[in-house]
Amino acid sequence: MKLKILGYLYQNLFRKILFLFDPEFIHDTITYLGKLIGSTKPGQQITENIFFYKSNKLGQDISGIHFANPIGLSAGFDKDANLVNIIPFVGFGFITVGTVTYQPYEGNPKPRLYRLKKSQALVVNYGLKNIGANKIVEKLKNYKKPEKFILGISVGKTNCPETSETKRGAEDYLNCLKVLNDNKIGDFYEINISCPNTFGGEPFTTPDKLELLLSRLTTLNISKPIFLKMPINLAWEEFKNLLDVTITYRINGVTIGNLNKNRKDPNIKDEIPEYIKGNISGKPTYKLSNDLIRETYRYSGDKLKIIGVGGVFSPEDAYEKIKLGASLVGLITGMIYQGPQLIGQINDGLEKELNKNNLANLAQAIGSELHFKA
Ligand SMILES: Cc1cc2nc3c(=O)[nH]c(=O)nc-3n(C[C@H](O)[C@H](O)[C@H](O)COP(=O)(O)O)c2cc1C
Repeated sequence: MKLKILGYLYQNLFRKILFLFDPEFIHDTITYLGKLIGSTKPGQQITENIFFYKSNKLGQDISGIHFANPIGLSAGFDKDANLVNIIPFVGFGFITVGTVTYQPYEGNPKPRLYRLKKSQALVVNYGLKNIGANKIVEKLKNYKKPEKFILGISVGKTNCPETSETKRGAEDYLNCLKVLNDNKIGDFYEINISCPNTFGGEPFTTPDKLELLLSRLTTLNISKPIFLKMPINLAWEEFKNLLDVTITYRINGVTIGNLNKNRKDPNIKDEIPEYIKGNISGKPTYKLSNDLIRETYRYSGDKLKIIGVGGVFSPEDAYEKIKLGASLVGLITGMIYQGPQLIGQINDGLEKELNKNNLANLAQAIGSELHFKA
């Protein structure tokens, strides 16, 4: 009831005010406030009292890590690890910080964030803006992680012309991962092979290039779980070819997926001005991501864990991704449109779904839509 009231207030009052201002300015302001509130114990406690929903049914072990609940803040909202002391208290089970790259990048020219209100979406063109791996290490090396919270780090390729050549690009990923891993930063890594807004485009989304990247990465002998962040505009045949490489190199799982590059997608209901560059998050990613989650689960079964991301705006949206085969669910845009209470509402809603379907735990729900049909 409390979360419902908060949602009503956010959607009918706060959002109206926030959406009057430039989206990047609002993002930066929220980040500043979140960091401030998270820097004090009372701030954390109050946040927890307001937002946190605790359930014992939603925990699960994935690739050797215990996740207290399956809902995570997807890569891109907290690029520079400013929010790691507040996000756990909002109710998330995990965060994916970044995308972090070996060298820093100040970001593409503004505007690089644009709202598509009718489509419940954003156009994103940061181009992997971040402070770089060494500064992230400085920030996180003394991080006291709250109990049961999981920290993932998204790793990308420095956005500069030099790394757009394939081999140098692969080495750049390697350098970044090595800095993070040597300094014991993060519980898992997510390799972002699908950032579309960079020099040279997405260089590792063909099987031969992905093979080159993964063969180099395995030389680091990283013991932490590794996920790959996948593009969502590939046809299934092409996507499957990437999965084959992923399985060969014993990657733990895939995050499905990144932004929608198709501006002609029928789910985009707003006019996008010519000068707005970038790719689309939110509702226009929902179906594309779900279709690929279903096919991936059907194809790879237990060989790959799936983090389902794209257009999650409600408990039903999250549960749908789980039923199609996702073990974990990530989001950003849903929280921006619905409010931060959405996380508690999703966890509450997931628990209710499990009870309604007589399921003892979340694991029993994963892929249940396909089991049922089989
Ligand atoms: C503002 C913003 C920045 C993003 N930056 C990144 C990024 O740096 N790395 C990445 O892998 N994905 C990035 N993404 C993509 C999201 O992680 C996610 O895959 C996508 O937005 C779909 O989820 P959503 O509909 O819940 O937002 C970004 C998305 C948004 C909205």
